[in-house]
Amino acid sequence: SAPKIIALAGSLRKDSFNQKLINEAARFALQTGAEVEVIKLTDLDLPIFSEDIEAQGTPADAQLLKDKLRTADGILLASPEYNGSITAALKNAIDWASRTEQGAVPAFRNKVVALFATSPGGLGGLRGLNHVRDILSGIGSLVLADQLAVPSAFTVFDENGQISDPATAEKVTVLTQQLVSVASKLS
Ligand code: FNR
Repeated sequence: SAPKIIALAGSLRKDSFNQKLINEAARFALQTGAEVEVIKLTDLDLPIFSEDIEAQGTPADAQLLKDKLRTADGILLASPEYNGSITAALKNAIDWASRTEQGAVPAFRNKVVALFATSPGGLGGLRGLNHVRDILSGIGSLVLADQLAVPSAFTVFDENGQISDPATAEKVTVLTQQLVSVASKLS
């Protein structure tokens, strides 16, 4: 059956470059025949994680995110770099989704993940990818060795949010196809 892929970006910014990047990856994944759902963090109401809030009941959107991840085979993840690491918004989403009910399967376990980043800087957010790789590997995800950090984000997208540079589009396509290919073996 077609692999189920979730596309997620770790930014809450309206014009997020990382959201544009992962929207493009999602579009390329759809073209391979995968089932793709883009989940926008801005659509989720996730308080900053606290075990006290959790004790009152897991917020509906945290549960929703967790349930969607559980049914997925693969994740296309664009992680913006803040101060050499991942955004608080992404870490918060991961922390909520990582919480396991009695007897339930951990949401990130055995999900194949392709890591993307883009930033206005020259390294494209590369340093942050080491951190998100470490976090996700620690909770059981199978993070692909290949990853993509796209520098000079201001020059990458056209006014429709599509990647205007063919070489960059090709790199996004290749990594996306790799993710879909591995995810289809898990589905
Ligand atoms: C940044 N930015 C940034 N860029 C980078 O390449 N390396 C870094 O360490 C940082 N650090 C950083 C810290 C904070 C607090 C902010 C707000 C920004 C710039 C960042 O890459 C830029 O704002 C991107 O546009 C963020 O990604 P989105 O929101 O466009 O997807």
